[in-house]
Parts: sequence; C-alpha cells; structure tokens
Amino acid sequence: MVIPCMGHLLLATFLALALSAYADEQPCTLHHGGNYYDLNSLKARKDYEVDIEGGHKFYLNVCRGVTTDPWNTGVSDGDGNIAGLIRRDHGDFAIGIVNTTLEMVEGSLMIRQSNGSPCKNMDNVRGSSSTRFICDTSVFAAGKPAVIDKFPPNEDEACHYELEWKTHFACPTGERGFFSGLLISCVITAMIFVMLYMVASTLYNRFVLHLRGHELMPKFTLQHAQEILDMSYEVIHSVLDRFGVTSGSWRNRGRRDLNPTSHHWTSRQEERIVFAANPQEADLEDGLSTAPERELDTVNAACDPGGEDDTVRL
Ligand SMILES: *[C@@H]1O[C@H](CO)[C@@H](O)[C@H](O)[C@H]1NC(C)=O
Repeated sequence: MVIPCMGHLLLATFLALALSAYADEQPCTLHHGGNYYDLNSLKARKDYEVDIEGGHKFYLNVCRGVTTDPWNTGVSDGDGNIAGLIRRDHGDFAIGIVNTTLEMVEGSLMIRQSNGSPCKNMDNVRGSSSTRFICDTSVFAAGKPAVIDKFPPNEDEACHYELEWKTHFACPTGERGFFSGLLISCVITAMIFVMLYMVASTLYNRFVLHLRGHELMPKFTLQHAQEILDMSYEVIHSVLDRFGVTSGSWRNRGRRDLNPTSHHWTSRQEERIVFAANPQEADLEDGLSTAPERELDTVNAACDPGGEDDTVRL
C-alpha cells in the first residue's frame, strides 16, 4: 500500500517538474527561482478605484478587463479588453489592453500593458502602463495600486503610467491546486489497494485456507500479503492465458539466473532456504518483481484440486 503510493507520488512529482519546466505558464502565474506566483486572486468583480491628480478617477482590474463601461476611449472592441482607464474630460483614456504574462523584474512581479488609447499630440503612440506588484505580507486584503510616475507629466496628456501595488498576493505561493490533487489521488490509490487487498485476503482465507467465521477477516502480515500477491499473480496469469494474451516469456520474466526448467519451486520452505543463501535476491525491488513469478504449486493445487486448469473455483 505504501509502495504504490510512494511510486505514485514520485511519478507525479516528476511529471510536475517536467510540466513546470516545459509547459507555458497559466495566465497570470509565474514560476521563477523555484517559487510560484499567482495574481489571479486579484481579479475583481468590481474595478479597483483610485483618485488621481486633477480629480480624475482611475479604474483598474488585474488579469481581466475593466468592468466599468468605457466611454470614447478610441480603442475598438476587437483590440481586446481594456486593463484600466482614466476618466478624463473628453473621454476615457485606456492605459493598455489586458496582458496576462507576468514578468519578474528586479525581484518583483511586473505586468506590462500596451495598445491603449491614442496619445494626445503624439502620432501612432498609444496608452501603456507597467504595474509592479510588490510582495507585502502586511497588506492582508488585495491592496490598491498607486500611480508613481507618468509620462508626459501633465495629467491631461499623460500616456504612459508606472504603477505600484503592494499586496500579499504578489508573494510566492504553493501550487495548492496541484499538490492537493496529488495528495487526494495518492490517498484514493492507497484506499483502492487496501480494499482490493481486503477482498483478496478474504477470498484467500475462504477458498485457499478454507477458514471459517471470524478467521475470514483480512490479515495484515507480510507473509500473508506475499501469499495474496502470489495468488493474484496466478489468477491474473491464468485469465490472461485463457485469452491467449501471454506466452512463456511473461512467466519467465524476472527469473534471471533461475533456470525455469531445471529449477522449480516446490514449497515456501525451499524458497526461504534459497533466499537465505542468496540474500541479494531478497531486496525490495526483487521481492516485488520476482515474487509473483515464483511458482506457487501449493497455492495452485489448493485453488484447483482437479488440476486440469489454473482457475480458482469460487
Ligand atoms: C505582455 O507582457 C510581456 C511581458 O512583460 C511583454 O513582453 C509583452 O510585450 C506584453 N504584450 C503586450 C501586447 O503588451
């Protein structure tokens, strides 16, 4: 039970590493320096609102378009969602189109947005902005953006904005979704193994050991588990044999230096003697891969007193 779970965890971890190394980042997330950042929590149903110079209102959202109705921005609908706008006297000034690519600049997260409203008195220049998100664990709520610079400096003509946003959402987080999913799938796998084991153990107690009553209860000892494993192997193998799926090669796989024709296990007793004489055969991996191949004639005989095939009679 522990081993499949560990294998599962290991495999999933490798997959996760491979994925994080090669896959594109999810929108508004970033892997950087072994840390993971996610600004999606800053998406707001109602725009963030900031009062700026000249009594103007600044409406802003993160990783999504503004919810405020834009008015006379000079940005056409097909250009994308407006990331933020300033309500000016003759129309809203869009400071860029939503960009969900995060960048790490000098230790803080940065979002750059461009292609906003046409700038006053400048040909072919459009509104743009860059927002620096600063990790600040003392800001418990989402925090608020602050305009720290603009160009040109005149508020009515400003075309490029530099913003700063202190929030704990800009701090590295764990990839909760992924790792809790991993843990859950691991626990489910373990539970499935336990249940299968309990069913197999009960069947084994009943039909192989011919136990009755409370003795049918599944046992959790290593020796018992080994026997169950051997029996399961035999059952699976006989089923596969019946459908012609397997050949001798599968049966012989993992036998290594044991000659399958000259050497035939006859009892667990003999098996243990050979194990003791040949300790490297007994390590964990070998135990797993070779144990089922060891012929369990005793179990076979018990399963199938008639001996004409390998079927377990229930
Ligand atoms: C989006 O952000 C990335 C990273 O900051 C930047 O390289 C790219 O030019 C931006 N795209 C637009 C359309 O602003």
